[in-house]
Amino acid sequence: MENRQQWGSRYGFIMAAVGSAVGLGNIWRFPAVAYENGGGAFFLPYLFALLTAGIPILIMEFTIGHKYRGSAPLSLFRINKKAEWLGWWQVLISFVICTYYAVIVAWAIKYTIYSFGTQWGSDPSKFLFGKVLKLSDKPGEIGSLVPGVVIPLLFVWAVTLFVLYRGVSKGIEKLNKIFLPTLVVMFMIIVVRAVTLDGAVEGLNAFFKPNWDMIFNGKVWIAAYGQIFFSLSIGFAIMLTYSSYLPKKSDISNNAFITAFANSGFELLAGIGVFAALGFMAKQQGVPIDEVVSSGIGLAFVVFPSIINEFPGINGLFGVLFFLSLVFAGMTSLISIVETFVAGIQEKFRISRTKAVLSGGLLATVISLLFATNGGLYLLDVVDYFINNFGVVLAGLVEVLLIAWFFKELNGLQSHANGVSDLRIGSWWKVCISFVTPLVLGYMMFDNIRQNLKQNYENYPTSLILYAGLFIVGATIVIAFILSVKGWKSSANTVEKKEVA
Ligand code: ALA
Repeated sequence: MENRQQWGSRYGFIMAAVGSAVGLGNIWRFPAVAYENGGGAFFLPYLFALLTAGIPILIMEFTIGHKYRGSAPLSLFRINKKAEWLGWWQVLISFVICTYYAVIVAWAIKYTIYSFGTQWGSDPSKFLFGKVLKLSDKPGEIGSLVPGVVIPLLFVWAVTLFVLYRGVSKGIEKLNKIFLPTLVVMFMIIVVRAVTLDGAVEGLNAFFKPNWDMIFNGKVWIAAYGQIFFSLSIGFAIMLTYSSYLPKKSDISNNAFITAFANSGFELLAGIGVFAALGFMAKQQGVPIDEVVSSGIGLAFVVFPSIINEFPGINGLFGVLFFLSLVFAGMTSLISIVETFVAGIQEKFRISRTKAVLSGGLLATVISLLFATNGGLYLLDVVDYFINNFGVVLAGLVEVLLIAWFFKELNGLQSHANGVSDLRIGSWWKVCISFVTPLVLGYMMFDNIRQNLKQNYENYPTSLILYAGLFIVGATIVIAFILSVKGWKSSANTVEKKEVA
C-alpha cells in the first residue's frame, strides 16, 4: 500500500485549489486584459472559455490526479507509458514559471514595506525602475544582482520551501486556510473603499461598457483562453498534483465548479476594484481612463502607488492592504507551482520529501536570481510571454489531444468522476474536451506563431527572444523527454497500474 499524503478536509482542498487559482493573474492581469479586449463584451468570450475549456479541463485534471494518485508524470505514466513526458513537460513549465513568479512576490513584499509613509514619492515610475529594480538601459543586458531584490526573494523562497517541507496538510493546507480568507477580507476592504471614491463610476463604466465590434476579433478569444488557463492554474500540472492528495471518497466535479467560480468571482472583484481606483485617478488628473490604464508591472507598481498617493486619507494603510494582497495571492499560487516538481522528483527518484524540496527548491532559487539582476525585468517579460503562449497553452492543447484522441481516456475518466461526485458530468464535457477546446487552442497556436514570425515580441532583440523565449520553451520539451526515458527508480511495482483503485 502506498502511503500518500492527504488533505485534511474537503474545505482544506478547496482552499488550496482556490488559493492556487487566485494569484497575480487575477489582480494584475485580468482587469487590463478585459479592458483591452472589449470591456463588457470580453465577458462573452471569457465565459465561453471558462465553460468550454476552463471547467472541463479542470474536471479532467482533478479526475486524472484522483484516479491515478500521483504527480503529473506518474499519473500520466499510469495512463500510458508514452504519456509520461507530457507530465514532465508540464512540471518543467511550472519550474520555469516559479522562477520569475517568486520575484514578483518579492517586489510586492518590498512595496508593502514602502507603503509605510508612501516611500515611492511623487514619481513612482522613476522609483521602481531607477531605485528598486535598477533596470539596465537596454533589454538583453543582464548586469549584476540587485541586493534590494535578492533579499526579499530569498525570504519568499525560504517561506515557500518551509511550507512545502511541512507537507500537504500541515503545510500547504494550513497556510491556505489562513492566507485565502485573509486575502478576501483585505481585498474586500480595498474594493469597498475604491467604489466609494470620486470618479469610481466613470472607471466602472469604462470597464463594463461593451465594445461589441471587438467580439469578432480572434485576438480577443485568444486573450480569453490565455487568461483562463493561467488564472485557473490548468495546463501546468498543478491541479492534477493537488487532486492526487484527495482521499478516495472525494467529490471531483462539484469541487471543480466551486474552484472555477470562486476564481472568476475574485477576478471580477479585482476588475471592479482596479477600475474604480483608475476612475478616481483619471478624475484627479483630469484625463480619460485609457491614459491611466496599464497592466502587470506598470499597473501594480507604478499606477497603484500613484493612486495611493492621491487617496484622501490613510494612504499608507491602503498601500499595505493592496501589496499584502498581492503577496498573499502570489504566495498561495507559488506554493502550488513548486509542489508540482517537488512531487514529481520525489516519486521519480524515490527520495524523501525533504530531499525533493531541498534539491528542486534550491535549484529554482538559484535560477530565480537571474530575474533579480539589472536586466531581470526584460528577461521576466520575455520568459513569461513565451512560457505562457508556447508552454502552458501548447501543453494544454497536447494534453486534451492525447487524453481524448490518442489514449481514449475520456469514458474512463467520466465514469470515475461520476462515481464519486455529487454532480454528474454529461456528454457536454466530452464534446468540449474532444472538439471545442482543441479547435480553439489549435487556432490560437497557429495565430500566435503567425504573429511572432511577423514581428519580435515587444520588438525585443532577436537574441533575447531566442535564449529567453524559444530556447527555454524548447529546453522544457527536450528535458521532459530525457526524464521520461529514464525508468522509475526501484520498487517499480508501486507505480504500476494495478495498484490504482
Ligand atoms: N493561477 C495563478 C495566477 O493566477 C498562477 O496567478
